[in-house]
Amino acid sequence: MMRLFVALALPPDLRAALAGMALGLPGARWVAAENLHLTLRFIGEVTRPEAEDLDAALSALHAPAVEVRLGGIGTFGQGRRVHALWVGAARAPALLHLQEKVDRAVARAGFPPETRKFTPHVTLARLRDADRGRLEGFIGGHNDRPFPPFIAETVTLFQSHLTRDGAHYEALADYPLEGAGG
Ligand code: 2AM
Repeated sequence: MMRLFVALALPPDLRAALAGMALGLPGARWVAAENLHLTLRFIGEVTRPEAEDLDAALSALHAPAVEVRLGGIGTFGQGRRVHALWVGAARAPALLHLQEKVDRAVARAGFPPETRKFTPHVTLARLRDADRGRLEGFIGGHNDRPFPPFIAETVTLFQSHLTRDGAHYEALADYPLEGAGG
């Protein structure tokens, strides 16, 4: 079985800027720079034939390249159970459209549709019992921080490898978006 998800890869300079924020929250498990990404659709464990069907469906994807603007800090989980810290992405119509197209491609490959609402984000850290004051300090310190926008010219199918040192993500295939330069 393979654990898969579809995401936008981030430019190296942006990943470096995001990874540079990994300070000031004792106990946080920070995502390593090379693993930072924006998930469009989590798929989960699939067999190799299912992965091939996914690849075929994503190869037939037709959607324009999208501009992605990161900004604003968010969390998942409530109170002491806050478990993820992330930088949001603007809910631009083009990004939402791309996510729907990816969802439909994944559905064509035979996977049930995602029921959770799409919250575009890049996870920076996983938290457990985070100190509330420190967390508020982090959010206050970074919430207005600007990031350079970038154009996502491909969508990527990633495989998640779970290791003792945490997850590590491998890009299996890139699918070009339309109007991408180069
Ligand atoms: P997260 O960053 O908010 O944790 C690989 O695990 C990617 O798929 C992560 O970006 C993760 O989002 C996302 N994802 C979405 N749903 C998931 C799920 N049920 N289990 C694991 N990862 C999920």
